Formats: sequence, C-alpha cells, structure tokens
Amino acid sequence: MTTDAEGLKERVNKALNSQDQSTITLLSSLLVVHDELGYMPEEAVEEVARYTNSTINDVWGVASFYTNFRFTPPGTHTVELCWGPSCHVMGAMPVVKAVLDALGLDSESDTPDGKMTVRFNTCLGACAQGPVISVDHKLMGRLSPDVARQVIAGLDGEGVE
Ligand code: FES
Repeated sequence: MTTDAEGLKERVNKALNSQDQSTITLLSSLLVVHDELGYMPEEAVEEVARYTNSTINDVWGVASFYTNFRFTPPGTHTVELCWGPSCHVMGAMPVVKAVLDALGLDSESDTPDGKMTVRFNTCLGACAQGPVISVDHKLMGRLSPDVARQVIAGLDGEGVE
C-alpha cells in the first residue's frame, strides 16, 4: 500500500519522466508537475530540484517568479475565464462578471469554501468560439452570462439567484 506522500512522489516522477522533448529545463519540469498536481507542494519542489540537478532555492526562485504557479492546492473545480482580445470583443466581460458574481468573488482567487478556483486567462486557444471559459480543463465556448451562471450553479451544486 502506498502512502499519500509516496503516491504524490510517484505522480511527480511520472510527470517529470514524461517529458520527451530534446531540452528539459527547470521550467519545463515545473510546468509538467504543476499540470499534473494543479499546484507545487514542497515535496514536488524537492523532486524537481533532484530531477533537474538544481538546488531547492533555484526551483523556488523560478517557480515564484511566474504568477501561474500556485503553492497551495486549488479548489475542487478550476474555472478559467478568458478575457483575451478575441473573447473580449465577443462579450467576455459580462461572462467574467457573471461568474465572479455567482461565486461572490471580486477577482481571480479561491472561494472561501475551497470548492472553486477562478483564474483569468489571456487566451484559451479557441478564439473563434469566444467568449470561452474552461471548466476543469474542458473548454466551453460561445457562452452567455446566463449559461455561465448555470454552469457555475451546476458545479457548485447550489442554486444561483
Ligand atoms: S482570446 Fe479567448 S480563446 Fe483566444
């Protein structure tokens, strides 16, 4: 039987070893681990340091430079809101506002109950489908504020006024 710590270490190492590009860097290693876990716990930082032959300070230095890395676990659901130029002209801001209002948030952050993490994104790669959001890595396009509210209500399991 594996402990949580062993399970985490196994996931981190599997992600690190999955890199098949010719140049593996500290940053590419951080990215694959962050994609796998959704955040960078201390144990993962240590594994990245070992794997890239860097110091733990080097890894913290790079990870803390980029605002996209987080060091605490994300909410149960992660909602990314695109407010890039294409989505913006197709009505992203009312969708962004609808989602933030539905969750009682002012900006990107986690809900106090830890259920939801909201992040802004400048392009989710589906510009023609704008406004686009991503819910737990699943893209949803041509969203209206009403549909966005329904999506959030469905995730939350609670009604939205
Ligand atoms: S600008 Fe929103 S998906 Fe590209």
